Amino acid sequence: MQPQSPPAASSTYTWAGRFTEPMSELVKRYTASVEFDKRMWRQDIRGSLAHAKMLAKQSIVSTVDYADIQRGMAQIVAEIESGAFEWSSDLEDVHLNIEKRLTTLIGDAGKRLHTGRSRNDQVATDIRLFLRDAIDDILVLLGQFQLNVLDLAEREAATPMPGFTHLQVAQPITFGHHLMAWFEMMRRDSERLAEVRRRTNRLPLGAAALAGTTYPIDREFVAAELGFEGLCENSLDAVSDRDFAIEFCAASALLMMHFSRMSEELVLWMNPRFGFVRIADRFCTGSSIMPQKKNPDVPELARGKTGRVYGHLIALLTLMKGQPLAYNKDNQEDKEPLFDTVDTVSDTLRIFADMIAGITACPDNMRDALRQGFATATDLADYLTRKGLPFRDAHETVGLAVRRAEELGVDLPQLSLVELQTFSPLIGDDIFAVLTVEGSLAARDHIGGSSPEQVGAAIARARSRL
Ligand code: ARG
Repeated sequence: MQPQSPPAASSTYTWAGRFTEPMSELVKRYTASVEFDKRMWRQDIRGSLAHAKMLAKQSIVSTVDYADIQRGMAQIVAEIESGAFEWSSDLEDVHLNIEKRLTTLIGDAGKRLHTGRSRNDQVATDIRLFLRDAIDDILVLLGQFQLNVLDLAEREAATPMPGFTHLQVAQPITFGHHLMAWFEMMRRDSERLAEVRRRTNRLPLGAAALAGTTYPIDREFVAAELGFEGLCENSLDAVSDRDFAIEFCAASALLMMHFSRMSEELVLWMNPRFGFVRIADRFCTGSSIMPQKKNPDVPELARGKTGRVYGHLIALLTLMKGQPLAYNKDNQEDKEPLFDTVDTVSDTLRIFADMIAGITACPDNMRDALRQGFATATDLADYLTRKGLPFRDAHETVGLAVRRAEELGVDLPQLSLVELQTFSPLIGDDIFAVLTVEGSLAARDHIGGSSPEQVGAAIARARSRL
């Protein structure tokens, strides 16, 4: 027969045995985290059930206790899901709220759950489970965005548009090629997140407060129960580091940087001066004073929200930098930046996937822009180089031709053959095929190049990888 616990302490606090005065309201409010960490309740219960199962397997608690714990937790899940569960900031955090309710429901078995465990390894486990789940959701959203990018890229694989350097027309590319650059950014983002997931997916439980525990626990069993790929192999490190959360914020900062760049392009492209794309009305808003306005709010906000994700990265780095081993309460501040990063990234991905599907290209405007920028000047230089002129000389020759075209207010292919030949006798009438946008595109026919065939091949490769 197991011994019974002493009569309940007068204080509400699980840990208050040695305290002689109650906490002030301000300190309570300052130290409580339940308002935000209750978001991890599923992970907390999942972790507790795996721990309890191990305790029973190792005969550290009885099978009857384990059955009670399972029953109590099932009821708590139902209460939280129905909204009946009463969260109390008197109980500080998600862990103590759930444990207290469990004890109310099932008595002493509830008090045995915490055997061989501390909130320090418990919270580290919860965050890792939470982040692992979040990364899985984000990877699905990212995949959906990538698919929608591919669909648009496929439709626009051969649509000529200017490629820019310094935001000046540089060379012809296709809209599909440009979109595939976005796709590549996302491919690396998703690789990075998959790697963060791997390092996040290790089990801290068993570290207890900091030094491990005197009970004959089986950490590998708990890891397998929770789908962790390995153990945190040092108890001090297990409870204290949050580098996985920082890595996630770093990967997210890069991802948001990419979305911010795309946003900037969308803002420019939907400006009538470019007029390259139209974005569906549902992603824009009007002005309360100027009736003609259609503003690109969604891309602008994505650009703006990038700043808060960068901020969360810096917040977490700063949170860790002064902490001696092992757990310090500072770590409770890890959650809000992490949660907000997850929410911002998820919402951005969701809204962009939808927005991409609602983009219409305006090929005529893209072609007009191409005609105004001497976009095939490099093709003329390459042509002269193929005819034997050293590239640097060819570059100079074409510069003179561009100056002439500019004076006349025309594009290069509009200069007559006679006029072109004044710059170089190497120029023949085969030059006009080279100077067209289609000729320029078709000539860049290698992996990573902008010919419509290569863009099509890139899309096919991307599809097979997704
Ligand atoms: N709410 C705490 C956190 O988020 C849980 C761990 C508290 N541990 C402690 N010894 N006070 O970090």
